[in-house]
Amino acid sequence: MGSVWEMLVSLIVFLSVACVSVRATVTYDEKSFMINGVRKILVSGSIHYPRSTPEMWPQLIQKAKEGGLDIVETYVFWNGHEPSPGKFNYEGRFDLVKFIKLVQQAGLYVHLRIGPYVCAEWNYGGLPVWLKYVPGMEFRTDNQPFELAMKGFVESIVYMMKSEKLFEPQGGPIIMAQIENEYGPVEWEIGAPGVAYTAWFTKMAVALDIGVPWIMCKQETAPAPMIDACNGFYCDGFKPSKPNEPKMWTEVWSGWYTPFGGPLPYRPVEDLAFSIAKFVQSNGTFFNYYMYHGGTNFGRSSGLFVTTSYDFDAPLDEYGLPNEPKWGHLTDLHSAIKKSEEALLSSYPTITWPGNNQEVRVFKSDSGACAAFLANYDTADWTKLTFQNFPYDLPPWSISILPDCKTEVYNTAKIKRKIGPTRKMRPAISTFSWQSYNDHIPSAGDQDTYPMQGLWEQVNVTRDYSDYLWYLTEVDIDPNEGFLKSGKWPQLTVMSAGHALNVYVNGQLSGNVYGTLEKPQLTFTSNVNLKAGINKIALLSVSVGLANVGVHYEKWNVGVLGPITLDGLNEGTRDLTKQSWSFKVGLIGERLKLDTTAGSSAAQWAQGSQVSLKQPLTWYKTTFDAPDGNDPLGLDMYSMGKGEMWINDQGIGRHWPGNTAKGNCSNCNYAGIFAEKKCLGNCGEPSQRWYHVPRSWLKPTGNVLVVFEEWGGDPTKISMVKRTLL
Ligand SMILES: *[C@@H]1O[C@H](CO)[C@@H](O)[C@H](O)[C@H]1NC(C)=O
Ligand SMILES: *[C@@H]1O[C@H](CO)[C@@H](O)[C@H](O)[C@H]1NC(C)=O
Ligand SMILES: *[C@@H]1O[C@H](CO)[C@@H](O)[C@H](O)[C@H]1NC(C)=O
Repeated sequence: MGSVWEMLVSLIVFLSVACVSVRATVTYDEKSFMINGVRKILVSGSIHYPRSTPEMWPQLIQKAKEGGLDIVETYVFWNGHEPSPGKFNYEGRFDLVKFIKLVQQAGLYVHLRIGPYVCAEWNYGGLPVWLKYVPGMEFRTDNQPFELAMKGFVESIVYMMKSEKLFEPQGGPIIMAQIENEYGPVEWEIGAPGVAYTAWFTKMAVALDIGVPWIMCKQETAPAPMIDACNGFYCDGFKPSKPNEPKMWTEVWSGWYTPFGGPLPYRPVEDLAFSIAKFVQSNGTFFNYYMYHGGTNFGRSSGLFVTTSYDFDAPLDEYGLPNEPKWGHLTDLHSAIKKSEEALLSSYPTITWPGNNQEVRVFKSDSGACAAFLANYDTADWTKLTFQNFPYDLPPWSISILPDCKTEVYNTAKIKRKIGPTRKMRPAISTFSWQSYNDHIPSAGDQDTYPMQGLWEQVNVTRDYSDYLWYLTEVDIDPNEGFLKSGKWPQLTVMSAGHALNVYVNGQLSGNVYGTLEKPQLTFTSNVNLKAGINKIALLSVSVGLANVGVHYEKWNVGVLGPITLDGLNEGTRDLTKQSWSFKVGLIGERLKLDTTAGSSAAQWAQGSQVSLKQPLTWYKTTFDAPDGNDPLGLDMYSMGKGEMWINDQGIGRHWPGNTAKGNCSNCNYAGIFAEKKCLGNCGEPSQRWYHVPRSWLKPTGNVLVVFEEWGGDPTKISMVKRTLL
C-alpha cells in the first residue's frame, strides 16, 4: 500500500484523466483512434443524405450496421442547403440533423465532412452558383470574399451540430469532421495563395472548438492538429504526414461514377477486399468506403456530365439493395478484421517472405492474442504458403486472415457467401397514357428575349436556374446569293464551350451535338437550308451539370461563345459572332412550371391522337397509380433521347439514354492493379437506361409524372419497373 502522497498523486492523475476524457473523448496517436480511451479499428462508409430519401435512411443505416460498419460518413452539401443567398433548406432529403440522429439511434458514429467544397460529382462541387457572382470572388484560395462566405457556412453547420448536441463530447455520434477536401493538389498548383488559404481555414476550423479531431484528406501539408488522410483505390503505401497521426483512408473507392457517354465502371470485390486487407496489415486503422451507398443525383444535382445514377458499384446499390457478392464478402472481411483487432492494435507486425510473392505478417499482443495475414502477390498463379508448419492455399492477388494465427477465416479472393437472389428489373407498369405539350422555339425580338453585346457566358445568364439558354439571331440573305440557284447550301459553324447544343434554323431542327466529360466543348457544323430574306437562327444551349473539380473550376465557361460563321456565301464567310444576338433563359414549359403538379394541371395538353411523338422540345404528362408492394421503382427510358423527369413535384433527374456508352468493355481480371477504366460494362448501350423513382414519392393513386424531351422520343414505350431480389 502506498503513502498518502502516492494516493494523492494517483487521485490527481485520475482526475486529470477524467477531465481529459470529458473534454476530449476522441483521441489518437500514430497507431489508431481511441474513443473514450478504447483503441479501435474503425470501419466507415459514405452515405450522402441527399442521394436517397429520408424514408430510405433507416434501412440504409441498418444495412451499414449489419455490414459491420462503425461509422457513417457524409459530406455536407452547401448548395443544397442554401440554394439562394440567405434562403436555407434543411428539409426532406436535406434534413442533415435527422440523418445524423438516425445514425446515432442505430448506434453508429458519424464522420461529418463539412467541406464546404466537396467535389463528390455533385453540381459545382457543392458550392452555390450564386457565390461566384459575389464581387471579387475566387474559389478555394486566399480570397476574402470566399473566406468570409466559407466561414459563415462552416460556422452555421457547427453551431447547428452543437445546438443539437451531436458532437461526441456532447453525447452525440460525430467523432470527427473534415474541413476543405482534397486541397493538397490545388495548393501544390497555385502555391503561396494556397498555402495562406490552408493556414486560414486551419485556424478558422480549430477556433470552432468542436471537441473532436479535424481531418483534411489528400493534403500532406495539413498543419497540426489537422490529420492528413489518403483517398484512392489503394492506400497501403500511404504515410501519415505527422508522426502522431493514425493511418487513415478517407476514401476507399468501391467503384467509380458513370459519365453520360461512358460505360459502367465496376470494381471486383476480390480486389477491393485485397486493397483493404493490405491497408490493415500495413498499420491502417481507419477506412471509409466511398461509396457504401452511392444513390441518385436527383433533380439537377449531378456534376458535369455525371449520370443521374450515382450507384458507384457500392456495396448497397442505387436502390438500397445489397450489391452481392460485394456487400456480403465485405461484411465477412470486417468480421475477420474485428476478430484480429486486439493483436492488430497492440503491435507492429513481424514480416517474413517465405516464398516468391509470398508474405506473412504476424501481430502479437502481450496478452497472447495473435493474428496473421498471409499474402500472395502473384497476379496469375495460386500459391501454397506454409505458415507454422501448416499449408495454406492462396489464390492470386489475395490475402488470408488468420485471427488466431491458425484458422483462415477469410481470404480476399475466396467468396464464401452463397450468391443469394440476383437483382432484377421486373415490369410494374408497362405503358402510360400520355398527354403532350409542345414547347416553343423563340425568335430574336420576342417578348422575354433580351439583346446582348457579344455572346454571353451561359451560367452568367441562367445562374443555373435552368439547363437551357437560347441564343437567337437573324441572318439576312440577299436574293442574289449564288447558293439559292446552285442549291449548295451554306455551312453554319457554331463553337460552344458546352455542354450540348440543339440548332434550329427557321423553326426546323438542324442538328444536336454534345461534348463529353473529357471535352465539354463542342462544334456544330452543318449545311443549312436558308431562304432569301430574313432567316431565324435559334441555338438552344444546354448545360449538363456544372464542373465539380479542377483548379478554379468556377471559371470554366458554358454556352455558345463563338466563333459562329456562315460559309459559302457570295462574300465568302460571314462572321455571325459580332452581329446582334439576343437570349432567352429557359423553356416556356419551365416558365409555366410544367414540372410541378399545379403548373401542369393549369396548362393545355394535347391528348389522344393529338399527342406529339418523336418531336423535339416536347413535354409529356401522365397520371398513374402506385404499383403494389414495397420494391424500389425505376423508369425505363430506353425509347427516349435526352431531357428531365419529375414525379409529384420531385425531380427524378436528367435522362439521356440517347447517349450510349463508348469504351472498351472486354472482360477484366480482378488480379492486378485496378484503375477506373479497367473494368467496364454496358458498352454500346445507353450510359443510363433506368432511373430510380423513390417509393416514398408516390401516393396510392393519381401520381403525376412529367417528362421533358429535348431531342424527340417515343413516350409510349416508357415503362415503370420494380427493382427486386428474385
Ligand atoms: C508501421 O508502423 C511502424 C512503426 O511506426 C513502422 O516502422 C512501419 O514502417 C509501418 N509500416 C507501414 C507499412 O507503414
Ligand atoms: C455576364 O452578364 C452581364 C450582364 O448580366 C454582362 O454584362 C457580362 O458581359 C456577362 N459576362 C460574360 C463573361 O458573359
Ligand atoms: C480492350 O482491352 C483489352 C484488355 O485490356 C485489350 O486487350 C484490348 O486490346 C482492348 N481493345 C481495344 C479495342 O482497345
